[in-house]
Parts: sequence; C-alpha cells; structure tokens
Amino acid sequence: MNAVLYPFCASPFFVWLTPITRLVPATSSFAIPCNKNEKKFAQICMASLTLQYYGAIFKVIVIKVTKSERDVVEHMKNDIFSLKGKVCIVTGGYQGIGETVAAYIADAGADIVIFDISDATEVADRIGQEYGVRAKAYICDVTKPEMVDQCIAQAATDMGTLDLLFNNAGICLHKSVLDCDPQDWLRVIDVNLNGVYYMARAFGKFLIDNNKTGNIVNTASMSATIVNIPQRQASYNASKAAVVHLTKSLAVEWVDKGIRVNSISPGYIRTAITAGSNPEYQKLWIESIPMKRMGTPEELAGAVIYLLSDASTYTSGADLIIDGCFTIV
Ligand SMILES: NC(=O)c1ccc[n+]([C@@H]2O[C@H](COP(=O)([O-])OP(=O)(O)OC[C@H]3O[C@@H](n4cnc5c(N)ncnc54)[C@H](O)[C@@H]3O)[C@@H](O)[C@H]2O)c1
Repeated sequence: MNAVLYPFCASPFFVWLTPITRLVPATSSFAIPCNKNEKKFAQICMASLTLQYYGAIFKVIVIKVTKSERDVVEHMKNDIFSLKGKVCIVTGGYQGIGETVAAYIADAGADIVIFDISDATEVADRIGQEYGVRAKAYICDVTKPEMVDQCIAQAATDMGTLDLLFNNAGICLHKSVLDCDPQDWLRVIDVNLNGVYYMARAFGKFLIDNNKTGNIVNTASMSATIVNIPQRQASYNASKAAVVHLTKSLAVEWVDKGIRVNSISPGYIRTAITAGSNPEYQKLWIESIPMKRMGTPEELAGAVIYLLSDASTYTSGADLIIDGCFTIV
C-alpha cells in the first residue's frame, strides 16, 4: 500500500490538493463524472490524503517526553505551589516585605528561619503559632560573612536542614552622588549587594556540601532598571542593578547543581523604607505610577512563592518586576 501511496505524496497533484482537503469538512461530499480508472485513481488519492490528514494529527499528539522532563513534571501535579517539608530562610524578616512574605511562605507550608540585624523572635513566634510551622529567628548582620556562615550552620542544625532562601534584607539612602561620602556608599553596597552575595554563597555551599537542591529568590528593585526621581539614590540603584546581574550569574553557575536563583524587583511598596521618605516625593511617585497607588508587601508574596516552589522548575536567572506598571511607561 505504501509503495502505491508514496508516489502520490510526492506528486505536485498531492501537494496542491492537501491544503484544500484539509479545509473540507468531514461530512461534505461532491460528485465528479468519471470512468472506472479515474474513479480508482481518485480513491487512491483520497486514501493517501486521509492517511496524511490523520498522520498530521497523529504527529501533533505524540510528543516525546524524556525521562528527566517526566521526573520534573511528575511531582508538580499535587499542589503546585506547596512549600511543605521545606525550610526557608528569610533575611530582613523583622519587618516590612520580609515579615509579611515570611508569613505567606509559612502559609504555603514551609518552616521559617528569620535572619535580621534586629531580634525578630516575636515575629517568628507569631508566624509559628498562626501557621502551625516551626519558626526561629537569628540575629544576623548580612554584611558580616563570618556571622552569616555561623547563622547558616546553626539554623541548619536547629531545623534539621535548609532548602530555600528569600534573600531580602536591604537599605536605601536618599543622597546625591556628591553628598554621599565613601562610608555612605559602602554601607548601601555592603547590605544590598555584599549581604546578598554572602548569604547566597553560604546557603549555596550548604546545599552543595549536602548534595541538596534548592532555590534562592533575591530582592532587587525596579531601581535596577530605571533611575528614580526626584530623589537621588545612585548607591541604591547601582546596588540593585548588581543584584539582578549577580542573580543571573549565580543561576548559570549553579544550573547543574539543581539550585535555581531568581530575583523580584518591586516598585514602590508601602513599608518603613518608603513611609520614611519625603511626603512630597511620595505624592509624586503615586502620580507617576499607572496604577495610581503604591504596592503592598502582600502583593509580592505570590511571586516569591512561585519562584521558590516547583511551579517554576524551568525558571532561573529571571527578574520579575512587580511595580504597578511603573517601568513600562
Ligand atoms: N519598600 C519598597 O518600596 C521597596 C522597593 C523595592 C525593593 N525593596 C527592597 O525590599 C527589601 C525589603 O525592604 P522593606 O521595604 O521591607 O524595608 P524595611 O526597612 O521595612 O525592612 C528591611 C529589613 O532588613 C533588615 N536589615 C537591614 N540591614 C540589615 C543587615 N545588615 N542585616 C540583616 N538585616 C538587615 C532590617 O532590620 C529590616 O527588617 C530591601 O532589599 C529593599 O531594598 C523595597
């Protein structure tokens, strides 16, 4: 049969007819006067075209899935955003974005470890009680690499393991480049960039030494992409742009270790950082945000959980801008 059909498949007649027959509905019929041989010829053509038609459909349905692809999707089916059984470190969890998002991460099932320069024991206790997870706070200055290493080791011992990191502690300074002295500059870079690096490094090392996979979400900012006005904050903008590129670099460096690294870039979010700013600035910001309001820390939680969870297994090195449309106009 194939020997008969293949010549037709290759013929110009076939090539010309195929698109037409695919447009003819299955129930359509038409009659053309013809002799016996012509009828036979037409039947063979139609059989060939029908096979081709179903062949085309068949090709679309059969998609080869490799074993590693299947392994990844297998466990995505149940509760795709669940963080159950994971232990997540949140830096800067004493207040603001870190405090709020830590509670949502706990709601998604993870045990919580808070690292902050301030004592966040009360926050950890509240989260533990409210969401029925284990939660513990550690005083940790992320600009001190030895302290970061010690806190990671202690938290891993206390919690049994570590799986996830929301690398979020940060500060902002509204000072022009000329007013900013080297100490000011270094302080911002130290917390926002070096702190993110020290945390990622110690956490990544823990995972690799223990043959574990895991996820990191760094908090960058829309200031990595745009220059905010009217305030002058070059140190902050530069530090956050570096966080975005550090994120991409780590994503590639650790791609074969099963460690994904992504960042979120919030726009203006209502926290202590923005609330303490000049009220005139705040008015100007809101006027220039297409959504005409600041965001809330709660509005970042979904993105963080998405990036920390198995819902995003094919996403690494991405930066998710969450800014009420600020940077797209
Ligand atoms: N609020 C915004 O509009 C906004 C926008 C974009 C990005 N961000 C970023 O989000 C993150 C959180 O900001 P936020 O608005 O919640 O501010 P926030 O001031 O309310 O919270 C920052 C937290 O970081 C902690 N912290 C500061 N220095 C630290 C250090 N050296 N070691 C450990 N912890 C330290 C603080 O104690 C505090 O708990 C920051 O990285 C910030 O740059 C905020």
